[in-house]
Amino acid sequence: MYLIVANWKMNKTVKETEEYLAEFKPLVKDIDNVEIVITPPFTSLYTASESLKDSNIKLGSQNMFYKDSGAFTGEISPLMLKELNVEYVLLGHSERRHIFGERDDLINKKIISAIENGIRPILCVGETLEEKEQGKTFSVIERQIRNGLAGVEREANYIDIAYEPVWAIGTGVSATPEDANNVHKFIKEILDEISSGNSQKTRVLYGGSVKSSNADSLIKGEFIDGFLVGTASLNPQSFYEIIQKLMWIIKV
Ligand code: 13P
Repeated sequence: MYLIVANWKMNKTVKETEEYLAEFKPLVKDIDNVEIVITPPFTSLYTASESLKDSNIKLGSQNMFYKDSGAFTGEISPLMLKELNVEYVLLGHSERRHIFGERDDLINKKIISAIENGIRPILCVGETLEEKEQGKTFSVIERQIRNGLAGVEREANYIDIAYEPVWAIGTGVSATPEDANNVHKFIKEILDEISSGNSQKTRVLYGGSVKSSNADSLIKGEFIDGFLVGTASLNPQSFYEIIQKLMWIIKV
């Protein structure tokens, strides 16, 4: 099934979260062929968790630490997320990598912890503009996937991947459908190899300036299984318009 994830990043207060969900829930209430996930900031998780009970919208977190509890000031544990019915966690987002200095080995620990705790990780990968111009797109992505999944390669079916070219995030310029599809194909080949064929359930999402005007051409790509949406997910109506594009091409 297609997966679409809203990454609100550092946006929306509790009140704004309530207002958003009050508008968004009725729009999507009958959709059962696209999996919809919202990842609000930590401060809105409780409110969102309460609001999404008995709804077809799932809850995700934008990050987490890999320990259950302890002296890790400022961090959030998988147990805390599970208590709020969080089912997904974004890990290795480019903003975590490039603004907060997260490296593959830390991301790998988080991936392992998420799987152990029954929270489905979405490992985010993608090359910078400089890496793209140097022709390193495929080698960077291969490194991020191999290192990110080290030790849990066989569990690939419990993981999703988001390909987000860093130069396409928040810029209004998405990858072309053809380029994105080629990278997704490459990601699926690596997953198949490292998991020894245990990656049929792994979805590979595209992220980076997805909006309703480019969603249909991107989703036509054979290897694109959904989207990770930033800016266009902040408005319930524009997020819903992208979901509608997915419903036109149904993959089971
Ligand atoms: P934009 O959709 O704003 O480009 O953000 C993409 C993203 O980083 C989602 O995780």
